[in-house]
Parts: sequence; C-alpha cells; structure tokens
Amino acid sequence: MLNWIESRTGFISMTKDFLVEDIPGGASYWYVFGSATVFAMILQIVTGIFLTFFYAPSANTAWESTAWIYTHYWPHLILAIHYWGASAMIALVFLHLLQVLVWGAYKSPRELQWVVGVILLLVTLVLGLTGYLLPWDMNAYFASQVALNITGTAPIAGPLIQQIAQGGGAMGTETINRFFGIHVWLMPAVMVLLVGAHLAIFRWNGPAGPVAEDPRKLKNGRFWPDQMFMDGFASLIVFAIIVALAFISPPFLDAKADPTNTAFIPYPAWYFLALFGLLNVVPPSLDLLATIVVPTLFLLVVIAIPWLDRSTTRSLSARGGIIVSTIVALVAIVGLSIYSQESIQAKQAAAPPSPTEAQVLAMANSTALAPAAAAPAAPGAATASAPGANPLVAAGATVYASNCAGCHAANGMGQPGAIPPLAGNPFVTANPHAVIGVLLDGKNGAITVNGAAFNGQMPAWKGTLSNKDIAAVISYIRGGLGPNKASAVTEADVAAYKP
Ligand code: HEC
Repeated sequence: MLNWIESRTGFISMTKDFLVEDIPGGASYWYVFGSATVFAMILQIVTGIFLTFFYAPSANTAWESTAWIYTHYWPHLILAIHYWGASAMIALVFLHLLQVLVWGAYKSPRELQWVVGVILLLVTLVLGLTGYLLPWDMNAYFASQVALNITGTAPIAGPLIQQIAQGGGAMGTETINRFFGIHVWLMPAVMVLLVGAHLAIFRWNGPAGPVAEDPRKLKNGRFWPDQMFMDGFASLIVFAIIVALAFISPPFLDAKADPTNTAFIPYPAWYFLALFGLLNVVPPSLDLLATIVVPTLFLLVVIAIPWLDRSTTRSLSARGGIIVSTIVALVAIVGLSIYSQESIQAKQAAAPPSPTEAQVLAMANSTALAPAAAAPAAPGAATASAPGANPLVAAGATVYASNCAGCHAANGMGQPGAIPPLAGNPFVTANPHAVIGVLLDGKNGAITVNGAAFNGQMPAWKGTLSNKDIAAVISYIRGGLGPNKASAVTEADVAAYKP
C-alpha cells in the first residue's frame, strides 16, 4: 500500500527526508521553542477558523456575535483558548528569539533566518493588534484608536496608512472589515509563507547546535524520534497551560464600543505595554520619538544584529557587547511595561466604573431582541435570544421598547435610585399572577430589588395597552429581557386576572 502511494506521489520518501536530520550534540529541550511556536500558530489557525463560524464583522454585529460566543459553552471555550493562545504564541516567539540571541545562532550563514524570524515576530504582533479590535467592545475600540492615531502621526505615509487601515475618517464597520481581513487572511498567509521560508533556510543550514569551539567534534543526535518527542512533549505542556488559563481566566468582554464615552481608559495587550509606557515617559512634544523613532531604530538594530556582532565565535565571552545590550533592552522593556501597567491602573481607578460582565451580557441579550437593534442580526443573535422563538416574546420586545424602555431602560437595568431593574429582578420571574397585577393596576410604595430600595410610581396599563400587548410584554420581561428565563403569559391569563 505504502509502495503504491510512494511510486505515484513520492510522499513516503519526502516524509522520510523531512524526518531525517542530524542534531549536532544530540536532541535537547533547549531546541523546543521554535517548534512550540509553530504548534501555537497551528492552534491559533484552528481555533481562529472555528471562531469565524460565529463572528460577524460589522459595527452592528461584531460585539453582538462576540457576546453570543461568550454565552455559549464551546464557542466561549474556543475563544478563551484563542485568546490565551495569542499570548502564548507571542511569548514563545519572544523566548525563541531570545534563545537564538544568547546562543549566537544568528551568525553566518544563518543571517537570513534571523531576519525572517524578526519579521515573523512583527507579523505576530500585527496579528495581536488586529485581533484586539475584533470584539468591538469599549476596550477594543479605544485601544485600537490609540494604535490607529499613532500610525497617523508617522511621517510621510502615516496619514495614508491610517486612512486605509481605518477605512475612512472614523472607526466603524470598514475598520472592522479591514482589521478582520488583515487578521484572518493577509497576516496568516504571510505568516505561513514566512514560516515555510524560515524552516527551509533552517534545513539548508542545519541546526546551529550548542556553542562549541569546534562543532565538528560534536556527536550527532537524531531528529526523529528523539527531538520530535521532546518537541511534541513541549507542545503538549504549552497546550495544557493554554487550556488551564482559558478555564481559570477567560477573557473579559466590555460593554459595546461607544465612541462618545471618552472617559474610558483603554488597556493595551501586555505585549504593547512597553510602547504605551514609552509614550507616557516622554513629554508630549516628543511623542513622535516614542511612537515612531525609537521603535523603528530598535527594530533596525535587532534586524542588523548578525552584522553588528563582529565576533568570530559564538561563545558568550566573545560576545559581551551583545549580551549586555540584550540584558539592558530586556530590563528597559520589563520596566516600561510595569510602569505602564501601574499608570493605566491608577487612571482606571479614577475613571467611572465600567459595568460587570454579567451586566454586559444581560445587555447583549436584550439588545439582540430589542427592535432598536433592527440592524441585521448577528448570525448567533437569533439563537442567543432563544426565548424569542416564542412570537409572544418577540412581540413583547416591541411593546417594551415603546412603553417601558423610557423608564426601565432598553437593557432592563432601570435607573439607579429611581426605577427598579426588571432584568435579573426575582419579582418579575417568580409569580406571573403578581406581575400581571402590577401591569394592570400599577404599583407604588417602597420596594426592594436585589438589596436596592425604590419608592416610585409605576403607571397602570389597563385601558392603555390591550390584554394581548400586556401578555406579550410580560412574556418578554420574564423570558427575553437580560438573563430572565421564566415562562410566558397568555392573553387568556391576563383576561382571567382577579386581584
Ligand atoms: C413612568 C415610568 C415607568 C414606566 C413607563 C414603566 N414603569 Fe414599571 N415601574 C416604574 C416604577 C417607578 C416602579 C417601582 C414602583 C414602586 O416603587 O413601587 C416600577 C415597577 C415595575 C414592576 C415591578 C417591579 C418590582 O420589583 O416590584 C414591573 C414588573 C414593571 N414596573 C414593569 C413595567 C412594564 C412591563 C412597563 C411597560 C409596559 C413599565 N413597567 C413601564 C416606572 C415605570
């Protein structure tokens, strides 16, 4: 069977060629960072494809479809894995680069492998940046706005690049589409091609091996199965850590992007904290230094390392300059990140509090139903509001929007101190008979909802709304508003009501 395939395709000998590779000095756990990065990349591609099944890129659906993903177990788990996988991938690329740097493995003839590697780091960062915008929540919006504005300040092509990436003068659907296209098509394609080149160059030159005065004296080890086993084991550990983090600390979804809420303090992804910090330490007149000049120079120096390092051997002692500069750069990056983290946290503590995730998701559920969100529904939105499958609940959403939302708010959260919330209010979901009574006859006097006191006047709707509309709106506030999931009420129930 294998011979039959081999004689027609050559696949078997190709696989053998691929697996046969000498490892100078033997297989080692020191060499797993590159393959673990490839593993993380594949994990990102697989989980990313799955997420595109649910995500709908437009200003009206990006956040809604993300909220849908958040409220469903498997999609949410995949999203959490994708989220931590991104961090893992960037951390692994960085560790891999650091190791090559310390070992001097970039030295001739591997200069181009180094250059391709540094470009791959940039591609990974662009993937992180573009992915950050996609949930279209407050943080995604304002953090991306900072990045876009910085791009716009770059000399010469800056404003044009900002215009293209943003898709016009302001952030909106086109921005989401551009970022989406870059995130799921352009950068992954570029990345896969560059990884191919990176590996091809690697095979051409062979592994650099440990730092030894005479590499020819090293005993060779085998790639298959020795190194493959170590690589596989390391990838397994990386996977276990990512999944554990996905369970312990899933990503947080903020309220939907609201461009008018300029008091919001955005928080960048951790791998951009150092750049944010740099921007904070320089005076505003020198912003360009922090946003463009220093990062560009830094990048050029990193790319040029194989040519800047004039030593003839790879030994650490011969490369003191490189090692010391690496340590200085690392300390600066970590220091700036910590500083940036603390200054953002201080600003956030001073800013008005953001809603909790439960509130955000309750809002997601009601906006998905409310006719105010008459915009094309997210692919998931219809299912997210599964109770909406009951036509009474869907009709109730319309009654609610025109009669109740003015006081109880579109998301059913009420108004603190004045109007009680209906979303998450146990009175609403408990006894349907009592709710019918409130709707028909109104309500006044002191009440307590989830520990908060209210004392206002709820108008009577008998005579204003038909029994049918009252049944519909009760069905909606009981079974479609926010997290409420109680039974519907029929027109007959309302007609039969006796105090
Ligand atoms: C003019 C503002 C206003 C409008 C409009 C309004 N409500 Fe109310 N609603 C209130 C206030 C105020 C209370 C609290 C009454 C109290 O303190 O006893 C209340 C209470 C309620 C309660 C009881 C909550 C509890 O925990 O006891 C329900 C149920 C309710 N409203 C549903 C509705 C529905 C459904 C509509 C639309 C048909 C609606 N309300 C329209 C102001 C309003």
